[in-house]
Amino acid sequence: MRAAVGLLSALTLLLLMGAAITQRIQSKKPTRKPGQGRRQPIPGPRRVPATQSPFLPEPKEPTDFPPPILGPPSIFPDCPRECFCDPSYPSALNCENRNLRKVPVIPSRVHYLYLQNNYISEVTAEAFVNATELRWVNLANNRIKKIDKEVFGKVPSLLYLFLQKNKLKEVPAALPVGLEQLRLSKNHISKIPAGAFKKLKHLALLDLYHNELSDSDLGKNTFKDLTHLIQLNLARNILKKMPAGIPTSIIQLFLDRNSIADIPKDYFEGFAHLAFVRLNYNQLSDKGVPKAVFNLSSLLDLQLSHNNFTSVPLFNAHLEHLHLDHNSIENINGTQICPYSLQADYGDITLGPKLRYLRLDGNHLRPPLPMDVAMCFRHLHSIVI
Ligand SMILES: *[C@@H]1O[C@H](CO)[C@@H](O)[C@H](O)[C@H]1NC(C)=O
Ligand SMILES: *[C@@H]1O[C@H](CO)[C@@H](O)[C@H](O)[C@H]1NC(C)=O
Ligand SMILES: *[C@@H]1O[C@H](CO)[C@@H](O)[C@H](O)[C@H]1NC(C)=O
Ligand SMILES: *[C@@H]1O[C@H](CO)[C@@H](O)[C@H](O)[C@H]1NC(C)=O
Repeated sequence: MRAAVGLLSALTLLLLMGAAITQRIQSKKPTRKPGQGRRQPIPGPRRVPATQSPFLPEPKEPTDFPPPILGPPSIFPDCPRECFCDPSYPSALNCENRNLRKVPVIPSRVHYLYLQNNYISEVTAEAFVNATELRWVNLANNRIKKIDKEVFGKVPSLLYLFLQKNKLKEVPAALPVGLEQLRLSKNHISKIPAGAFKKLKHLALLDLYHNELSDSDLGKNTFKDLTHLIQLNLARNILKKMPAGIPTSIIQLFLDRNSIADIPKDYFEGFAHLAFVRLNYNQLSDKGVPKAVFNLSSLLDLQLSHNNFTSVPLFNAHLEHLHLDHNSIENINGTQICPYSLQADYGDITLGPKLRYLRLDGNHLRPPLPMDVAMCFRHLHSIVI
């Protein structure tokens, strides 16, 4: 029991951290969006430097990027000109929002590296040769297509790697074994190289939201080695099937906005910690989903909005939040969905089903909710119908 409480508070912390990080990134968004930079002073055909060989491709976009912004003079002799080195945080290097095309040479003292919101297209090893102490690298919102294999493999201390909003087509290879968070959302990833997640035994968060992954890109061993994974986000990809081989350590599984139509009967068997499942905006229906597949005692929050269910799936007495809005549900029978028999005597309501929040709007139901539903779910204090 205490382990479960520990796990939950770790999870809460993770969520809070996630929120804080998101806020940080959002609050540091450049006011000028890439591509909306300064206008070319001379309209008309782009000028080509005289030295340019006809065999070299003409630089296109980068010539339109605004020039890099230099940081203030620094007391640190090793502070790159393009960055800000805060004297009170010698372990941080702030190079975000500076129109950078490439990663500056990172001093060895740096643990926290902020490079988000720039125009970096390639991450090469030279900049990182001495940066062996990095713990946190934020490269979000750049134009990264390529990352040299050697870059992060040599940084054993790296815990957080943020690469969301880039142009990666595959999951970077040779990630350090201590990594705890890997954010790769909003790229163009359609490939996970074999063994990409091998050895990542400490990875707790893997965010692949909004990529181009299909069923054939996920093998049954793809996630197998992630034995400490807590949150997996595969929402907004092009999956038609539930991903196989999800580690049983998982607590949050997000699969919204795919094209999943069915769930194998024993899919969730063995997931002793799974508490949050989101499958909004898929093609689930009574036909493809076994009636009791979500009857898991660890589940707290189940989101099935915008699917095609015609009846309410069975769930466990521990479930607290159920989202079933925008389906095709025509009626709801409290006797059938009540996790305990209505005849059972639980005078002590703390023993009854824990459902508190229920969304049923956008179905073919009319209020009021049947009496047997209210009888069963005595903790229900918020219903949207
Ligand atoms: C890395 O550190 C070594 C030793 O301190 C130094 O000689 C070298 O110039 C550094 N390399 C870079 C790219 O900064
Ligand atoms: C749901 O799970 C509980 C155990 O948590 C079990 O007692 C019950 O029979 C299951 N219900 C169905 C319909 O499978
Ligand atoms: C939902 O299911 C019904 C039949 O059960 C079908 O007629 C309808 O086309 C489905 N809607 C969607 C959006 O799949
Ligand atoms: C609800 O289901 C129970 C058991 O299956 C059945 O006896 C009852 O008539 C149903 N109630 C309604 C209103 O259909």
